[in-house]
Amino acid sequence: MHRSFPLIRRRIVVVAGARPNFMKVAPLWRALGRYTDEIEPIFVHTGQHYDAMMSLTFLRDLALPRPHFHLGVGSGSHAEQTGKVMIRFERVLEEVDPEVVLVVGDVNSTAACTLVCSKAGVPLGHVEAGLRSYDRSMPEEVNRLITDSLSDFLFTPSRDANENLIAEGIPSRKIFFVGNIMVDSLKWARPKARSSKIRDRLGITNRPYVLLTLHRPSNVDTMERLRSIWGAIEALGRERPVVFPVHPRTKHRLVSFGIKPDRGVILSEPLSYLDFLNLEENAVFVLTDSGGIQEETTYLGVPCLTLRENTERPITVTLGTNVLVGVNPDRILFWAKQATRGSWKKGKKPPYWDGRTAERIVEVLRRHSGNSQ
Ligand code: UD1
Repeated sequence: MHRSFPLIRRRIVVVAGARPNFMKVAPLWRALGRYTDEIEPIFVHTGQHYDAMMSLTFLRDLALPRPHFHLGVGSGSHAEQTGKVMIRFERVLEEVDPEVVLVVGDVNSTAACTLVCSKAGVPLGHVEAGLRSYDRSMPEEVNRLITDSLSDFLFTPSRDANENLIAEGIPSRKIFFVGNIMVDSLKWARPKARSSKIRDRLGITNRPYVLLTLHRPSNVDTMERLRSIWGAIEALGRERPVVFPVHPRTKHRLVSFGIKPDRGVILSEPLSYLDFLNLEENAVFVLTDSGGIQEETTYLGVPCLTLRENTERPITVTLGTNVLVGVNPDRILFWAKQATRGSWKKGKKPPYWDGRTAERIVEVLRRHSGNSQ
């Protein structure tokens, strides 16, 4: 964990912890790398996600380097995970003494590093600031509130996020509308994703299929809820294959609740970024309870049925291809029928979802060098 860095350039620490962080960090890494004469970027991986398919393959697909620091925190209760990141990240800050730390998204690692920076007086930038589901039973919502209230630079993906922050009393001078950083990675990776052979590997070449992801604790942690959603998924699988890369949390639950998938559901291990993008782009529709997938499908123009009652990404509903269908099986099947009829809303790409978000962030940081408070 310990390395020494010579004190010459401005050190900017970039933190990633869990799978949905890597595609947000990669464009920052590339954009910071264009100024190595003035900036020394340092990559910290907290190790919140540690399986090869949840972490390593993403570093590879996104051309990220080996982290300078790997904190190896692994799984645990929210308090354990947050506490371990805090203790280990504090040591990194002491050693590196950065000018700014950049955190992304809303996972436990994001909030943990935020708390450490705030107490150490290190300026902090939050990429993907201002998103709100207004549902505090979601751990991510708590992480967003903590991170945004303590950040010095709040980089927002859409104008609604600016409004949320202003309504919470965050001074507008700290808020920067820069667009959606995931789109930077998506645009960068799309040509490579098109050569993925994943559909051949799954035996669905040239066949229409549905893509499913499901991992949110509220959907998978109780037997009643998971069984009920599962009923709708099996019904869909009788019409066309449902491809389901299974998150480790959901895998544990399926096993412990004794749920065995029907023939129409194709289960796989978690997929690499490029394989998943390939499946997303070619699906008839996507069923998901993830956050980022609502955004990717909006960018790709693919119908998205979100298995939640709320979203912190409302622009995907108002401008994009997303519909909040909830978790009632009849409603899921009703909307699935609409999606297969080809009459789904076309959607538009939201402003600044153009692949240049990381550039804008780095410009802001260069402009504000040394005067973040
Ligand atoms: C985390 C994020 C969530 C994000 C999701 C994407 C928080 C609060 N949640 O949820 O916002 O959408 O990642 O994947 O930070 N596990 C493994 N291998 C791994 C990682 C996890 O087996 O590499 C298992 C462990 O049993 C663990 C469980 O999955 O207990 C859940 O992992 P954890 O990181 O706690 O939360 P996620 O559900 O992945």
